[in-house]
Amino acid sequence: MNILAIESSCDETSAAVITNGKIGSNVVATQLIHAQYGGVVPELASRAHQQHILPVVDKALNDAKVAKKDLDAIAFTRGPGLLGALLVGTSFAKSMALGLNIPLIEINHMQAHVLAHFIDDPKPAFPFLCLTVSGGHTQIVKVSGPLEMEIIGETKDDAVGEAFDKTAKLLDLPYPGGPLIDRHAANGNPLAYPFPLPEMPGLDFSFSGIKTSFLYFLQKQVQLEPEFVAQNLDDICASIQYTLIDILLKKLKKAAREIGIREIAIAGGVSANSGLRRSIKELGEKLDWHVYIPAFEYCTDNAAMIAIAAHYKFLQNDFCDQTVSPMARMEF
Ligand code: KG4
Ligand code: ZN
Repeated sequence: MNILAIESSCDETSAAVITNGKIGSNVVATQLIHAQYGGVVPELASRAHQQHILPVVDKALNDAKVAKKDLDAIAFTRGPGLLGALLVGTSFAKSMALGLNIPLIEINHMQAHVLAHFIDDPKPAFPFLCLTVSGGHTQIVKVSGPLEMEIIGETKDDAVGEAFDKTAKLLDLPYPGGPLIDRHAANGNPLAYPFPLPEMPGLDFSFSGIKTSFLYFLQKQVQLEPEFVAQNLDDICASIQYTLIDILLKKLKKAAREIGIREIAIAGGVSANSGLRRSIKELGEKLDWHVYIPAFEYCTDNAAMIAIAAHYKFLQNDFCDQTVSPMARMEF
C-alpha cells in the first residue's frame, strides 16, 4: 500500500511517501523568503507553495522509487493553518487523486504532529500524554489510540513558539527566532534574569503576559545601559528559554499527576528545542516517566507525519470526497 502525503499549512512545502506504514521519502522545501519580513507573509507563502509543490512531489516519488500508477491514496493537510497555503496542497491533492482515480485522505496537522511518534521506534503506548508545541499551538493532548485524541489543556492566547519568535524579534534576531534563542541559551545562565510566571488555572497556558514583561524588562535595562542586549545576549536568551520551558513543564507535570499517566511525549516545532528536550528527560527520570522525543526532522513541519496519520486513516477506510475544502481552524 503506497500513500503520497502533502503538507502545506505554513511555510514548508513537503511531500512524503509511505509504503505499508514505512516512510520511503520525506522532502521538505523551507521558504526562506519570509526571514526578511520578520514573519510568515501569507500571500508569499501561497505563491512559494505553488512554485515548490510539483518538484517536491516529484522528488518524493523518485526518492521512494514509487510510480504514480502504484499510488493507492493521496493525503493532504486540511488544517489548521494559513488558508491560502492550505488551498495549494488541498487543490493539488484533489486534482491528483481525481486524475489517478484513487481515494483522498484529509489530515489534521496537529494530530499529525502527535503521530510523528509512530514513524520510528520506540513508540509510546496508549494512553499517553503529548505536549504539542508549535508556532501556532500549545496543547496537552490525551492520546487513547492512533486517531483518538482529546485536548485537555491549551493556550488561551499566544502559542509558545510565537513567544519564542516574538521575544527573539525584540532582541533583533531574525525570523524564526526560536532556534536562535536556543543556540544563544546554550552559552548563557538561565537564572540570570527571573521573569514572573503566568497564573492560569487548570491545564491551560498563557504566554502573552510573559512577552509583555520581557518587553518592559528590556526597555528598562536598555535605558540604564544602551549596550545591554549585545553584552548579555546569551544570558537573556537562557533566562527567557528557561521561563518558557518552566511554564510548559509545570503544566505537563500537573496533567500527568491528575490524569495518572506516565507515558509522556512532546511534539511540534518547539520540541526541537534542546533545553526542552533536556529538561523533559531530566523531569521524566525524576518522576519515573517514559519520555518520547521525536527525531529532529519530525519536530518541525514535514509530510512524513501527514503520511503516518494517513496510514492509520487508510486502515480504517477513512476517506473524504472531492467536495472537501481546507480549514484555517480545525478541531480534532
Ligand atoms: O511545528 P512548526 O514547524 O510549525 C507550526 O506548525 O507552527 O513550529 C514552528 C515553531 C516556530 O515558532 C519556531 O521558532 C519553533 O517552532 N522552533 C523552535 C526551535 N525550532 C523551531 N523554538 C525553540 N527552539 C528551537 N530549537
Ligand atoms: Zn506544525
